[in-house]
Amino acid sequence: TRKRASHTMSNAQSSRRYLIAGNWKMYKTVAEAKEFTRTLYDQIREEESLLPDIVLCPPTIALDAVVHAIEKTLGGAPFSVGAQTMESHDEGAYTGETSPKMLADLEVEYVVIGHSERRQYYNEVDETVNAKTKAALAHQLTPIVCVGESLEQRESGQTDTVVTSQVEAALQGIAASDFEKLVFAYEPVWAIGTGKTCEADEANRVCALIRQTIGKKGSAEQTRILYGGSVKPENSDQLLGQSDIDGALVGGASLKTDSFSAIITAAVNQKKGAVVSA
Ligand code: PGA
Repeated sequence: TRKRASHTMSNAQSSRRYLIAGNWKMYKTVAEAKEFTRTLYDQIREEESLLPDIVLCPPTIALDAVVHAIEKTLGGAPFSVGAQTMESHDEGAYTGETSPKMLADLEVEYVVIGHSERRQYYNEVDETVNAKTKAALAHQLTPIVCVGESLEQRESGQTDTVVTSQVEAALQGIAASDFEKLVFAYEPVWAIGTGKTCEADEANRVCALIRQTIGKKGSAEQTRILYGGSVKPENSDQLLGQSDIDGALVGGASLKTDSFSAIITAAVNQKKGAVVSA
């Protein structure tokens, strides 16, 4: 039983701003990260007024350089910086980890939490996702909480149960007044890095389900819900035109400025279309 999306308006007509985040994973040296930031700025600066929120998530070691490139070199380009993961504690004996306090100190504004690669290879589980989400909020970092089913779970009809339970677990103990600060990303594991994109209407259905799940505990009207998994210029118009998809978490296509800026332009065009049809 497939429920239709609860909203008839597209994001472009809603009060939620689009958010396009690039997750570079373990790619790019510090020098490459700085170069990317400058080139991207040159490609998108003309659209300044209609730009979505843009978040660059470089490897931890390049965070400071990208923040610096945006603020000092580019005089405050319209990008924010996000970390790809973090610890939940402020400090302590956690060899190799980075704390929310350290990220906030660097003026990092976002943090990806519970990415499927972290869940799969680094033992990230629902409990740590919840602890990290709370820690992010405590340090005024915007968490981008990733949820999504594996291929096996999808094929055995467990998509909705898996996604709902991951969302509920992430929200444990979080005040409803904080829901507008949260960002969720629906990232079906089988679509990540595989070139297989989830069909736009199915991605929208699951994003609407995420919104309904949050909505049971408070208002989810302002919570942004992204889609991630093989987003590229060719499919971004369709995905971003959906009612409950408020942006994209982009992996592979965020590594090249041409493809990433084309996805940003797709969000700009949705907003332009909304202005024209209003
Ligand atoms: P992909 O990665 O765009 O390369 O599929 C998405 C992600 O891991 O967030």
